Amino acid sequence: MLSKQEILNKIKEKKEFSQLPEKDVETAFSHFEKRQTTDEDKVKLTRDLLRKVFSVFTSSKILSLKNKEEISSEKRYLRTLKNRSEEWILRKHISTRERIDYYEEIYKRILKDLNKKINIIDLGAGINGFSYKYFKKFEVKYIGVEAIGQLVELMNFYFKRKKLNGEAIHLSLFELEKIKSLIKKQKGQKIIFLFKTLDSLEMLQRDYSTKFLEEIVPLSDRVIVSFATRSIGKRERFKIKRNWILKFIKDNFKILNDFEIEGERYLVFENEKK
Ligand SMILES: C[S@@+](CC[C@H](N)C(=O)[O-])C[C@H]1O[C@@H](n2cnc3c(N)ncnc32)[C@H](O)[C@@H]1O
Repeated sequence: MLSKQEILNKIKEKKEFSQLPEKDVETAFSHFEKRQTTDEDKVKLTRDLLRKVFSVFTSSKILSLKNKEEISSEKRYLRTLKNRSEEWILRKHISTRERIDYYEEIYKRILKDLNKKINIIDLGAGINGFSYKYFKKFEVKYIGVEAIGQLVELMNFYFKRKKLNGEAIHLSLFELEKIKSLIKKQKGQKIIFLFKTLDSLEMLQRDYSTKFLEEIVPLSDRVIVSFATRSIGKRERFKIKRNWILKFIKDNFKILNDFEIEGERYLVFENEKK
């Protein structure tokens, strides 16, 4: 019989999970820890869940970048991205791919009436940092928080190479205190993006999204939550849960806008008690 740590290490032996924060792997494993089954089976079940939450959205082309250890990460990045447009990268993630033709319009609508200078904190960013150029007339300090280390590295090289005011941070959204202090640390207007991310959080920990929103909305000037309205695969299960989250948002915060573009519904809101 393996110890808990040995099982967690075993789960992370798979390349696609090798760079996930321990907290996320542990949260996924907690679903199966007490199940009457073999360690091998628990490893498999946890990996299946992690796949649904994390790697399913990203092309393996991007995730495997990290694994050619023989060359430095900067070289790897340059080889992959050289002469490739932001759109090429944005196409490698299901969420951003669907948004490519609409970014300008989306950002215009969700950032309406804000100061020119803003901080955007993109939670569960995926590779959304590659959409930086669509912020257009805004002066944005962009911070993307993401669990998949490969995506964090990719965004950071991009920001550095293009000399953009952006940074990607490798952190689990279950590290609530760290997320809160990251938000508090920013000076000026703070805008939080949670694009298609609450579903992922719910898959790992039920009811976490409401607790999460209760804690972070008061720290920010505006929050934008989005949900996929078209189903990819088996999303049915989340439909009911989603209504409940939508109701929670409407009951607790002040809705500024609510609209849908190309299979994605955006809720723009702020803290009621402001
Ligand atoms: C459906 S994707 C959306 C990506 C991006 N927000 C977008 O819409 O373009 C969800 C993202 O959240 C990340 N994620 C899920 N759970 C997370 C967690 N607990 N901590 C940090 N990131 C997480 C996943 O790795 C994935 O990149």
